[in-house]
Amino acid sequence: MPNQATQDIMESIRKENDIVEIVSEYVQLKKQGRNYFGLCPFHSENTPSFSVNQDKQIFYCFGCKKGGNVITFMMEMEGFPFQQAVQYLAEKSGITLPTQATFQHQKENSTEDQSVLEAFQWLTKLYHHLLRHTKDGKNALYYLYDRGFTDEAIDLFQVGYSPVSKEFVVQFLEKKGFHRQVMVNAGLLTTSESQEYYDRFQGRVIFPIRNHIGKTIGFGGRSIHNQEPKYLNSPESRLFQKSKLLYNFDVARSEIRRQSEAILFEGYVDVIAAHQAGIKNGVASLGTSLTEAHASMLRRYVDTVLICYDGDSAGQEASYKAMRQLKRAGCTVKIGNLPTSYDPDQYIQEFGAEAFKSQVIKSSYSDMAFLMHYWKKDFNLQQEAERIQYVEKIVGEIARLNSPIERDHYLRELSDQFHLSYDALNQDLMSRIRKNENSYDNQKRFGNTNDGKPENKTDTNRVYRAFHNAERQLISYMLQNEHIAERVKDEIGSKFNVEQHQVIVTLLYGFYEEGNYPDPSHFLSFIDDPEIQKLVVELSMLDSNWEITEKEMDDYIRLILAEQTDYAVIKKLEQEQKEVEKSDPKKAAQIAMEILKIKQQSKKGS
Ligand code: UTP
Ligand code: MN
Repeated sequence: MPNQATQDIMESIRKENDIVEIVSEYVQLKKQGRNYFGLCPFHSENTPSFSVNQDKQIFYCFGCKKGGNVITFMMEMEGFPFQQAVQYLAEKSGITLPTQATFQHQKENSTEDQSVLEAFQWLTKLYHHLLRHTKDGKNALYYLYDRGFTDEAIDLFQVGYSPVSKEFVVQFLEKKGFHRQVMVNAGLLTTSESQEYYDRFQGRVIFPIRNHIGKTIGFGGRSIHNQEPKYLNSPESRLFQKSKLLYNFDVARSEIRRQSEAILFEGYVDVIAAHQAGIKNGVASLGTSLTEAHASMLRRYVDTVLICYDGDSAGQEASYKAMRQLKRAGCTVKIGNLPTSYDPDQYIQEFGAEAFKSQVIKSSYSDMAFLMHYWKKDFNLQQEAERIQYVEKIVGEIARLNSPIERDHYLRELSDQFHLSYDALNQDLMSRIRKNENSYDNQKRFGNTNDGKPENKTDTNRVYRAFHNAERQLISYMLQNEHIAERVKDEIGSKFNVEQHQVIVTLLYGFYEEGNYPDPSHFLSFIDDPEIQKLVVELSMLDSNWEITEKEMDDYIRLILAEQTDYAVIKKLEQEQKEVEKSDPKKAAQIAMEILKIKQQSKKGS
């Protein structure tokens, strides 16, 4: 068990970091009764089964069963070892930690990661300094000014410059005491066949890439003298995973939450240009197409994502793919209205911030309007046969919309555009809707859909035997009320029938004996075994009433004791049975019958 000093600090860290607030930085939560609900960040789902309880300061997912307190949440969410989660939360709330040795938890081998993070921090500062204040950086700085970057944005995004020198950065890192091979592993340095080490970004403008908690974990290097490739990025590593990261997410997060809308760009420069134009909820994927992980992460924060990719056909293609990905995750999607030959940055440079806001962002297309436009590329609309194919494809898509008003809107547009009878289109639409509904019904009959209910509920609905259920209920009360725990201790002590329950109540008695008040979140830090932790969270979330009646309590205790008695009796009979098995088979059979009877009876009581 943790010592007193550690306990006090942990207590203040948990007090200062309200779990609802911390979780809200990752998940859009809505209050529902006593709990908050949102989409689980730990498994993929479209209906919320992830819950947070503010009174108890714990989270629990009814789908994947993950649960814990605010510290466990940070560990799961960011992959932090215990120590780092504590440090992160302490920093966040301005608590100073004593020397690391105070923590008894084993120090995980995150030293290499720590060292890489530090190196990135140093290099970000160095590159930024070189850009800002040295002769070497002048050209790069003028390049940026020329592209409309303000000093303020250059500072905020810590844009930098890497000098044209093989050794400069190598020596810099060396002097700071960083291990060369560790730097190579993290992509900070490159090594050649002849075992030379050098800076991979020489002569490039540097865009530091921060992870979602604001630590630099990669660089994007933009060439300024037309070298290829135009952008050179840090290679993938354990810390830098492009498929999960979005550029600028840490800064944009609060604005994204406030507006419940995120704007998705293709490039770093677009994000920065938009930021300068006053649009602060912009993020970008890092030179890869939008992944399922990106989409479901965005979905946890927002309902709507506005895609603002380049206006050219490659941009349209990418928009279509991103749209599919986002729709699958359950987002409403809009598409920015960008003219063909522009990207957002160019548009802002040429027409200014106000035009960008009103003509591109505010005049965005709905996903349906985008599709109607996008699919035209696949058909020669001058030919009647292809025109009809196109119209049918669109009607099929309209049939998938839920709102009758929206359906009507696009159907009218289609009928106007192609001078087709609205009624005829509508008939086609209705028959498609009926078809869709039938196939939906079939799916339902065969159990293929979850019908909007939380997924994986089976385990929650598991039927326990009566004594087992009694133990679960009783522990859930004991976690809320030390007097109930006291009383149970007098009557049963730790002799619960389920082994895991024995462990929990033993720890719980100790917890109360030390003068702690009921607090599931606090209690969790007394438990080392993750399986037991999980069970405690699950039991804390049992929807029991605050008050338990005497009768209810007596019933639970009786059931638990009865199981014990039965168990003891059966054990004794089994022993006897074994003893007479050879000498007196008839007697042995009688005993077997007796055992069976007790077992059946105890089941009936269940
Ligand atoms: P773009 O070619 O659209 O670049 O690539 P951009 O964002 O407009 O950049 P500027 O305005 O020319 O400076 C979009 C994104 O694709 C990735 C980068 O992340 C870039 O921001 N990319 C592009 C690469 O990773 N490598 C490349 O060679 C090019
Ligand atoms: Mn550009």
